[in-house]
Parts: sequence; structure tokens; C-alpha cells
Amino acid sequence: MRKLFGGLSIVLLIGATTIAGALYATQPTMPHGAMAQMHVSEQSFSQVERGRYLTTVGDCAACHTDTQGGAPFGGGRAIETPFGLVLAPNITPDRETGIGGWSDAEFANALQHGVSKDGHMLYPAMPYVYYTKAHRSDINAIRAYLSTVTPVHNKVVANQLPFPFNIRLAMRAWNALYFRAGGFQQDTAQNADWNRGAYLVQSLEHCGACHTPKSVLGGDKTSEAFQGYAIQGWFAPNITGDMRRGIGTWSVDDIVVYLQTGHNKQAAASGPMAEEVDQSSSRMPVDDLRAMAVYLKSIPGQDDSVKPLDASDPMMQAGRAIYDDSCAACHKTNGAGIAGLFPTLRAAPAVQSREATSLMRVVLDGAKSAATDKAPTGAAMPSYAWQLDDAQVAAVLTYIRNAWGNQAPAVSASEVASMRANLMTQPN
Ligand code: HEC
Ligand code: HEC
Ligand code: HEC
Repeated sequence: MRKLFGGLSIVLLIGATTIAGALYATQPTMPHGAMAQMHVSEQSFSQVERGRYLTTVGDCAACHTDTQGGAPFGGGRAIETPFGLVLAPNITPDRETGIGGWSDAEFANALQHGVSKDGHMLYPAMPYVYYTKAHRSDINAIRAYLSTVTPVHNKVVANQLPFPFNIRLAMRAWNALYFRAGGFQQDTAQNADWNRGAYLVQSLEHCGACHTPKSVLGGDKTSEAFQGYAIQGWFAPNITGDMRRGIGTWSVDDIVVYLQTGHNKQAAASGPMAEEVDQSSSRMPVDDLRAMAVYLKSIPGQDDSVKPLDASDPMMQAGRAIYDDSCAACHKTNGAGIAGLFPTLRAAPAVQSREATSLMRVVLDGAKSAATDKAPTGAAMPSYAWQLDDAQVAAVLTYIRNAWGNQAPAVSASEVASMRANLMTQPN
């Protein structure tokens, strides 16, 4: 036991030193000496230092720096949205092309309400939906820090979106649907660590920007916060405390090590998460990472309350008969499928998702898997729209969701009926 913890703290220590090194090596800021020459008061000096840290937490540089060798915060990086590309503007103190001429109030208005200096509405590619929860004192500190970075003259035209999303007024309707302005509320029933973690995750860290499922218009489905979402061609997995689909089996230390180093014994971060670790979480002190981990572990799973239906349940029996008859030829009686040909339905997260929407679609409409160079003829899942009625589709899906150790809410015939109606009116 002792040894294990010893080993871990060494890992953390090594992590912490490289991080501190990286932080100072890469920060594009004025050296301390220059700060002193400006005769800043002690209070504003510590505010700038705090702002430097919070800017790292908010990961502002990642989006506001052009990856093609652009100057820090000089803007120009293309940010993908569900509707197309938006370029992140220049947020250095350059008066003409940056935000040097902005007041603190205008700056806060951009971060917390998504409104630019001239009054135009920002697209939610800028994560104001989350930053709105940041304390005003933290926003002011970020502003104070950004005022000290080297001004860059770089004019950026942000808007690259196709019609109708290039109409910024559309954001008024979007905000009405998906944006709730307002600061983070402490939960007095929870301890200080939890509250610190919740604050960081929900506000400046904007973890939900990638990990929370989105509506077709790209708004957060807040009732499913952190339950996983496909973004930029990557899947940002469920990071709730769900034992089955989330990180409920990870310890607080597992999460801390992952956020600090990008990998642990369960997983390795790639793609956008690797960038998030590199630019933000690896540069944060262990206390804050631990606080975030404590909060994440407390977020309940999707359906801890769901008990698997018993095999003797009439719906399960009906479903099993249909399954053995129509599905087992490909997916096998034990649900294991055939590797590379027919997907496993057993222990498959997609089959046990809380909402059965995509499962109903697959059974009613069929599906063809992608043909790749390695597997030129993609296997196909037949459509059962004409063979199975609503109650039968509901039964077979309820069965595969609760057989072989799976567990997920039952599917009703009325859900299938509305999906069927939906598919009929949708052009394919
Ligand atoms: C996920 C990418 C992303 C992150 C992270 C991000 N921004 Fe932005 N930001 C954008 C984009 C894109 C725009 C432009 C949106 C538009 O034109 O509608 C923007 C706009 C802005 C604006 C308005 C500028 C103007 O000229 O209108 C400010 C100010 C700003 N960001 C500051 C920040 C700060 C400070 C942070 C960190 C706390 C930050 N941003 C983090 C993508 C990001
Ligand atoms: C820019 C998008 C993005 C942001 C922001 C982001 N993540 Fe991720 N995250 C991902 C992606 C994508 C993956 C999957 C990476 C992979 O498959 O290698 C991931 C993976 C993870 C994992 C591993 C889960 C597993 O089961 O393997 C954890 C834990 C995690 N993120 C936590 C966080 C936390 C905490 C935050 C906020 C501090 C955060 N992420 C912010 C995109 C993001
Ligand atoms: C002829 C072989 C075949 C039969 C019969 C068949 N399937 Fe499939 N099924 C497939 C293939 C191939 C896929 C993968 C399609 C894809 O990649 O999009 C699939 C995919 C699925 C998926 C999606 C799995 C996932 O992880 O997303 C579900 C659910 C499913 N089938 C259920 C059924 C049910 C229920 C039946 C019987 C009513 C059935 N299948 C009958 C071949 C079959």
C-alpha cells in the first residue's frame, strides 16, 4: 500500500515539475521585471498572475492562437462548429485589430453574455455559455493578464459560416433556447473541494463543450450533462460517475493522473483531449485537478436506478422469440456477433444508451457499415419496418437491452410508433 502511494506521488511530483517548467517556458508574457517597471501595485500584480493562471484554465490560447505559427492570442484559428468554421479573433491588446480599446465591462460582456464590443452577437463557438458562470473577479483578472501580453496587429474576419447561420441575429433565437446567463451557484450541502471542482468544470474549463450531448442546433442538452458527444470527428466519452458508461470505476487519483499527464492505466488522451491536457489541465495544480475529479465522480450515472428486466418478463420472452428468429443468424444467440462483420450487442454501450432513438432507427431503417479499403464490402443490417410491428420492435429492443448482462430502460411501442412516423416523413 505504502509503496503504491509512494510511487504515485513521485509520478505526480515529476508531473508537477515538468508542468511548472512548461508553464514558464511557453508563457508569452512580460517577464516579471517588465511588470515591475510599469510600477504596478502589488494588488494588480497578483491579479495579473491570477489572470495568467485562469487564462490557462479557460484555454483561451488554444482557440485564439493560429496553429500555423501565429502569435499567442493573435487570433485566426478556425474553430469547427456544427454549421461550419468560425475564426477566433485577435484578443491581444492591439487597439486597432485586438481588444486594446475595450473597457473591462465590454470584455466581461463578451465572455459572459456573448456580445462583442460593437453589439454583435458572438457564435457559441466562443464558449460564453460556460464562461457566464465564471466570477466577475476572475473575468477581470483574465482581462488584466491579457492586457500585459504582446499586442499583435492582425485583422481577423471571424465569420466563415454559410447562410443562414452567417446571420448573427439568428443567435438571438439560439440564445433564447440554449443560453442561461448567470454566475455559478455554490451548493452549501457540498464541501469546498466539490464546489471548487464544480465551478472550474462548469465555467472556465468548459468540459461540457465537448462532453455534453448537443441538440441538432448545437445547444447543450443540460439534462444529459457530460454523458458523451461526438465532436470534430472524435467521441468525447461519458465522464459522469456512471459505472457502466462513464468513469465511475476510476478513482479520484486516476482522473487526476489522466488530466495531468494525458494517460493513466485506463485510457490515453488523443485528439482534442490531448490538446486540452497539453494546454490547460496539465498546467493546473493538483489541488484544482483533485477538486474537479471529486466533482466529476459525484455526477450520477444515467440510470443507476434501472434494474435489468427479468428473463421471465412477458416482454422479454416475446423479444427473445423474435430475436432468435430474426436476428440471431447474424448477431448470434449470445449477442456476441462476429468480429469484423456483425457488431456485438452484448456489453455494447450503444445498445444500453438511455435513449433508444438510434436503435429504433437501425431496426426500422437498417444500416450499412462503412466500406473501407481493408474491408471493401461493408456488411448490412436489414430493415425490419415491414416485418415487425411497433410492439414487436419494442419487444426485441427491450430484450437486447436487458439480455446477456445488459441493462437499460425498456422501449415502448408508442416510442417506436413515433419514430416510425418520423422516418416516414423524412427524406432519406
Ligand atoms: C473553443 C474555442 C474558444 C475558446 C476556448 C475561447 N474562445 Fe474566445 N472566441 C472564439 C471564437 C470562435 C470567437 C468569435 C466568435 C464570433 O465571431 O462569433 C471568440 C470571440 C471572443 C471575444 C470577442 C472578440 C471580438 O472581437 O468580438 C473575446 C473577447 C474572447 N473570445 C475572449 C476569450 C477569452 C478571454 C477566452 C478564455 C477565457 C476565450 N475567448 C476562449 C473561440 C474561443
Ligand atoms: C475540445 C474538446 C474537449 C474538452 C474541452 C474536454 N474534453 Fe475530455 N475528452 C475529449 C475527447 C475527444 C476525449 C476522447 C479522447 C480519446 O479517445 O483519446 C476525451 C476524453 C476524456 C476523458 C477520458 C474518458 C475515457 O473514458 O477514456 C476524461 C476523464 C475527460 N476527457 C475529462 C475531461 C475534463 C474533466 C474536461 C474539462 C477539464 C475535458 N475532458 C474537456 C474532448 C474534450
Ligand atoms: C443479415 C445480418 C443481420 C441481421 C439478420 C440483423 N442484423 Fe443487426 N446489424 C447487422 C450489421 C451488419 C450491423 C452493423 C451496421 C452498421 O455498421 O451500421 C448491425 C447493427 C445492429 C445494431 C446497432 C449496433 C450498434 O452497436 O450500433 C443493432 C441494435 C442491431 N443490429 C440489432 C438487430 C436486431 C434487433 C435484429 C433483428 C430484428 C438484427 N439486428 C438483425 C447485421 C444484421
